[in-house]
Amino acid sequence: MPTPARIHVAHALHEVFGEGGRVPDIWDRDLGEDAALAQALLGLCLRRWGRIQAWVTPQLKDPTRGVPLGTRVALAIGLAQLAWLPGVSDHAAVNEAVELAGTQDLGFAPHKGLVNALLRRAAKDRGALAAELEALSAALDRSPSVERALQAALTPHGAFLAADLEALWSKLQQPPRPAFRLLKGDLPEGLVSDPDLPGCLRLAEGAPFPRPWLESAGGMVQDRSSQALLAYAREGPVTRILDACAAPGGKSTALSLRHPGALLTALEVHPKRAARLRQTLQQRGIEAHVIEADAAQWLETAAGTFDLILLDAPCSGSGTLQKHPEWPWIAHDDQPRLTGLQHRLLAAAAERLAPGGLMIYAVCSWLPEEGEAHRAWLAQARPDLVPAPVWPGALGAEVDAQDGLTACFRPHPLRWEGEGFQGFAVRKA
Ligand SMILES: C[S@@+](CC[C@H](N)C(=O)[O-])C[C@H]1O[C@@H](n2cnc3c(N)ncnc32)[C@H](O)[C@@H]1O
Repeated sequence: MPTPARIHVAHALHEVFGEGGRVPDIWDRDLGEDAALAQALLGLCLRRWGRIQAWVTPQLKDPTRGVPLGTRVALAIGLAQLAWLPGVSDHAAVNEAVELAGTQDLGFAPHKGLVNALLRRAAKDRGALAAELEALSAALDRSPSVERALQAALTPHGAFLAADLEALWSKLQQPPRPAFRLLKGDLPEGLVSDPDLPGCLRLAEGAPFPRPWLESAGGMVQDRSSQALLAYAREGPVTRILDACAAPGGKSTALSLRHPGALLTALEVHPKRAARLRQTLQQRGIEAHVIEADAAQWLETAAGTFDLILLDAPCSGSGTLQKHPEWPWIAHDDQPRLTGLQHRLLAAAAERLAPGGLMIYAVCSWLPEEGEAHRAWLAQARPDLVPAPVWPGALGAEVDAQDGLTACFRPHPLRWEGEGFQGFAVRKA
């Protein structure tokens, strides 16, 4: 029987390559100490999937015949360990992958012999295997949707070279370093201040992940881009805040800490996510009126206005490629639905902004149709909503920055460490 770590990785790969789905957030929750191995292994299989498959094909007796997913998964898991995880013995890498090939629903039993033969041969010279895999073109690991996302990330910042695109791709291949925020109490050992982003905390070199601190709601994980987005400049009173798409609640938490005493309404359409949002805010001692509703519908029918609206809209997540190495391989056929939903949410939210109020629209995506196109539409449809320069110019594309500030949030993907985000801020005149 293969170890749970390999079984979990195999399940996650089937979810991505069989179903076109995402790796669930909690896929590794019950793995204990083996979680680190499983995370490293899954990351390698996803980030090098194209090259691994290209290496396997010419080794087959008949390369023109299709290979079942169960065989591909077992081979990828075995080859990734042999090539890039020197701490795993030949025996463990080969035998466990062969066992996986024979496991019902995860492997393809008739190919146990093939998996065994290929991996044994590869194990004879692991250095050569790694070199052969690395020598294959990095473009094999990129789907057309990735090419588009990389172009979209760089284009707003002016002309760029093919080398910039490659540099961005390699940057996105490194597992991201977590960033944190203090919610209450003292800083735990091992966390240090980020010199470039006030309030942001990072792990000191070699420090363990601060799980007990997070579980006790002393702090939370929050990506640097989200923290920078929420460091908008805002003058004037804020008494009513709307977080229109709020779960899991990271930005609601930050909004509430930023404007203590303001009445916070947090909307979320998915029942499970709304329940999680409620629970998270409660654990953190954040007071909010959590409403389970479709935000567009709620905004179209509810009365009242808000001084501050955050619309952190559902999106393709193209900016989360570094954290979600499965992104290149998952289905992206619901883009028109998402873009339409974003438009509907934005139009409805714009109606509820109080005079002098600030609205921030954001998505963790670089695709122009998910941000820039909505900004252009709003500028033409709602001349009463004027651009509000609330972020330091360095966080925008250079062309947007005026007087040292920008109303368009679009950190440079090569110069900024954090998820790919784009957003804009408007103020009601
Ligand atoms: C990008 S996430 C928000 C992340 C959140 N702001 C945070 O920082 O923790 C978008 C959220 O919008 C929710 N959502 C999707 N469609 C919605 C709708 N029509 N109305 C309200 N929420 C929606 C999704 O379920 C998801 O939880």
